[in-house]
Amino acid sequence: MSSHDCAGDCPVARRTFLKDVSIFTAALVAAGLAPRGALAAPSPIRALSRVAADVRYPIPAKDGVQFDDKNEVILVRNAGHVYAFALSCPHQNTALKADPAGGGFWCSKHESRYKFDGQFISGRATRNMDRLVIRRDGASVVVNVDKWYESDSEPTQWAGAQVTV
Ligand code: FES
Repeated sequence: MSSHDCAGDCPVARRTFLKDVSIFTAALVAAGLAPRGALAAPSPIRALSRVAADVRYPIPAKDGVQFDDKNEVILVRNAGHVYAFALSCPHQNTALKADPAGGGFWCSKHESRYKFDGQFISGRATRNMDRLVIRRDGASVVVNVDKWYESDSEPTQWAGAQVTV
């Protein structure tokens, strides 16, 4: 398990990101230019509850990306799986964004790109996005925001950090 330090600038970056990506993606969709295979436009999500480090969300009803800036969580439903990612890039903790080109996530600091399941594609980062510990509880998922797995040092746990829906 690992811990992150967001270096104090993540909340501002998140707010800027949410605004920018929403506008950009809406423009693409309106123009009929949304990338093939892209999930629905990212949206904010509010947790149902938080008890200590356990944050509860409803299981997303459809494939998509949701950002909880308060708890610094990215929640993804894609192809029958739900993942929870740490918001910060595993390279130097910059807040990740939805890739405006579609297909996953993007870090603006050093241009790293990741798939929707967190797998590293390209850029300066050296591992996949960090997956938070997640479990299903009825119609909810519960994410422990203090515990996550790094793909390079804990590959088996990283692979298992998902819920099948
Ligand atoms: S901080 Fe994200 S790639 Fe460097």
